Amino acid sequence: MDDVTIARAIHVLAVVHWIGGVIFVTTVILPAVSRIAEPARRLEMFEAIEQRFSRQVKVSVPLAGLSGAYMAERLDIWGRFVTPGGWWLMAMVLVWLVFMAMLFVIEPFVHKRFHRAAMGDPTGTFRRVQRAHWVLGSAAAVVAAAAVAGAHGALG
Ligand code: HEM
Repeated sequence: MDDVTIARAIHVLAVVHWIGGVIFVTTVILPAVSRIAEPARRLEMFEAIEQRFSRQVKVSVPLAGLSGAYMAERLDIWGRFVTPGGWWLMAMVLVWLVFMAMLFVIEPFVHKRFHRAAMGDPTGTFRRVQRAHWVLGSAAAVVAAAAVAGAHGALG
């Protein structure tokens, strides 16, 4: 097995863990915790689950970026990222940048604000969190599907 194939396997595994987890949080965890009536208990449950996942994706998201950059370098295709036919390559980088920013910059800053909001207006806050997860998870899933099609020559 050559090094690009190993990088590809690591890349797909990291993406499966990360995007699969986001979809699980969106479609299973959030609807389940939203049924808990008591705001403090709801927040406690959500944080207990989300914080564990957050620690894990702080490994899988950078790993997806590193393995992707390694492939781009080895295949010498950086130039394709900025061509119209390589839009799916650029879309991968954009999705990655959004999640990196959420994980390492935005979330640590808004954490306390989220706590206050979830205690003051639990229904509205969890609805907003759910909507944000739907938007990001769907965009990531579409890009993952486009990346498979693109990597196998189906997008020109
Ligand atoms: C900095 C971020 C990223 C870089 C530099 C990157 C780069 C790459 C490269 C170079 C390939 C191989 C393309 C080819 O064989 O022609 C690839 C494949 C792929 N990437 Fe990414 N990627 C990144 C992020 C992502 C993200 C965020 C996703 C998911 C949403 C993703 C999903 C995939 C998938 C599914 C494949 C196709 C694997 C296959 O079927 O062979 N990547 N990526």
